[in-house]
Amino acid sequence: MPAAAPRPAVLVARAVFPEVVQRLRHHFEVEDNPRDRIFGKAELTTRLAGKAGAFTMGSERIDADVLAANPQLRVVANMAVGYNNFDIPACTARGVLATNTPDVLTETTADFGFALMMAAARRMAESEHFLRRGEWTRWAFDMFTGSDVHGATLGILGMGRIGQAIARRGALGFGMKVIYHNRSRLAPAQEAPIGARYVDKATLLGEADHLVLVLPYSAESHHAIGAAELARMKPTATLTNVARGGIVDDAALAAALRERRIAAAALDVFEGEPKVHPDLLAVPNVVLTPHIASATVATRRAMADLAADNLVAALTGGQPPTPINPEVLTEGRLRAR
Ligand code: GLV
Repeated sequence: MPAAAPRPAVLVARAVFPEVVQRLRHHFEVEDNPRDRIFGKAELTTRLAGKAGAFTMGSERIDADVLAANPQLRVVANMAVGYNNFDIPACTARGVLATNTPDVLTETTADFGFALMMAAARRMAESEHFLRRGEWTRWAFDMFTGSDVHGATLGILGMGRIGQAIARRGALGFGMKVIYHNRSRLAPAQEAPIGARYVDKATLLGEADHLVLVLPYSAESHHAIGAAELARMKPTATLTNVARGGIVDDAALAAALRERRIAAAALDVFEGEPKVHPDLLAVPNVVLTPHIASATVATRRAMADLAADNLVAALTGGQPPTPINPEVLTEGRLRAR
């Protein structure tokens, strides 16, 4: 009997649901990382030696050097919708398929973005800290007064799937007026059900009562919200970021919050996370969460399953469901090498 072809080897670079790792073991020789150490660039490069595929999260940077050192690599499957940790042109140049996990996290992330925005508007974290410190001694008419969400103007910067899901919550659930700015305008059939109005960025900044950021991070969106943009916002406005650190200039935001040039902010993502700018930790009027917008058990499992679907399909001759650079595929499939 001819010897069976060796199974492809893959690296599961971070800890993930054991059932998902088990499923990958049916198809591949798997090196996993159950203790969840974060590999630096050198270690990631070494561990990828001999691997045809990698299951990654936002912490693994797949750049031109990592790819050059691992010419056998064929697919990198991110368990995240964002993929700014991948150098996509470098992947494409080497014929490496990159995949992400869109759609399965849209509604969960929108729930969280909306909740953060409400928490900022109604000062929930700030007032909870006050109560926990034992400072609540009496009710007062002006204690922790915030701003209304219902009927207010919701501004969305980045009107992709998650932006639209947040807009739906605002328009249909809370009677908010929706304005948005995006690289491209939505079709009228997408705008109409939520009454969304396309505006330029300056108008968005100036008119929004609650501004929510849901745009991808790239060189163009780096510090899309800095001191100049914050200066255009209403002093009563809130800013929520569920997109990526680096879109907001965190030092400039901390200064604006400290000086009450905007009322409050809510951040799930940070420049250089998991470090958080010390000035943000020092201002009371900001809600801070540790990058958990998609963190429900069901959604994280759906993301892991989709990343595994992509890896399995790519390396077993199937059609990966959510490719980022489908141009490396032929008829939806990776070419045999
Ligand atoms: C999380 O941040 C993601 O991009 O899925």
